[in-house]
Amino acid sequence: SRSIDLAVIPGDGIGPEVVAQGLKVLRAVLPADVKLETEEYDLGARRWHRTGETLPDAELESLKAHDAILLGAVGDPSVPSGELERGLLLKLRFAFDHYVNLRPSTLFPNTATPLAGRPAIDFVVVREGTEGPYTGNGGSLRTGTPAEVATEVSVNTAYGVERVVRDAYERAGARPRKKLTLVHKNNVLVHAGHLWTRTFDRIGREYPDVTTDYLHVDAATIFLVTRPERFDVIVTDNLFGDILTDLAAAVTGGIGLAASGNINPTGAFPSMFEPVHGSAPDIAGQGKADPTATVLSVALLLRHLGHEAEAVRVEEAVAADLAERDAGTPRTTEETGDALAVRVANRPAD
Ligand code: NAD
Ligand code: IPM
Ligand code: MN
Repeated sequence: SRSIDLAVIPGDGIGPEVVAQGLKVLRAVLPADVKLETEEYDLGARRWHRTGETLPDAELESLKAHDAILLGAVGDPSVPSGELERGLLLKLRFAFDHYVNLRPSTLFPNTATPLAGRPAIDFVVVREGTEGPYTGNGGSLRTGTPAEVATEVSVNTAYGVERVVRDAYERAGARPRKKLTLVHKNNVLVHAGHLWTRTFDRIGREYPDVTTDYLHVDAATIFLVTRPERFDVIVTDNLFGDILTDLAAAVTGGIGLAASGNINPTGAFPSMFEPVHGSAPDIAGQGKADPTATVLSVALLLRHLGHEAEAVRVEEAVAADLAERDAGTPRTTEETGDALAVRVANRPAD
């Protein structure tokens, strides 16, 4: 459409730093006739300290009305671990039914990676986003005593597994290599693992042109490092997908480049785009964070909203910029944002 109504949650740590650059590139790439409206939401550690609130119902309700959400990162050492991660980030993913957590990995040229010079790496992880061990099912007995028992139950529903597996088949079928790998641990986690495997095989019969295979998650970590070119689309559960995508980022150019989209494919709720990385308290406030992951998340956002040409423009600008970056002279967050904004704005005469 000819307008974008975007909710922005800069969040904590490096979140606001990288989001500012993401928005700069978004403004630079949009043609003059696409109107961008942004509404910033003050959520995260500062808000929590000030008011005790994490995500009030009124704001959750108001977030619903936007076309999409751009989020920086949440989590701060001054807030108990999990408070913001669960109460804000996961609450949004669950409330807006972001069942497809899309995390693409490509090997960009000239990046610091142990895999430099390898054959083209281009795969996407379809990580389930609403179930698994993330649902908060479980508890602890005799907390704090030597007899404490803590459980964290992984929830996997036939409905939840089928819809994400089907989405992954659709994505695989639309790609040139048409290959889909299920990653799980069905040799040990037999209840959830067998549901995933049975669903994967059953839905697969509807997609005869998609080649499939299966890897246990431990073996998948081996191949992500030794033979990443073997992957095209990976579908996996919420926790395995979390771990695999940090690894995938590390081997394809670093966590500063990894983008993600929390997608609600039905369009019932706004999808949310964010870098894969967190709030990086170790470098926050120093202007050192690489905003590229956020900029590439903006590309996913543009694609999701139907602005394919602009999405490609952003991705090409990143590839060109990376090819010319000098690893010896690190840039500031703002310098990288400026360089990318200049590249995307530099449109050919039409
Ligand atoms: P992290 O991703 O924040 O940091 C891991 C390492 O990567 C750090 O050394 C950091 O400096 C580096 N790094 C991350 N992003 C970078 C960037 N753009 N440029 C350069 N270096 C970058 O993970 P963590 O340290 O495990 O978590 C820190 C906090 O963030 C925690 O509170 C955690 O819960 C939270 N977290 C939030 C999200 C999210 O909001 N989506 C994701 C992961 C972690
Ligand atoms: C991510 C993060 C989150 C996750 C945390 C902060 C809840 O690690 O987006 O990858 O585990 O999904
Ligand atoms: Mn993660």
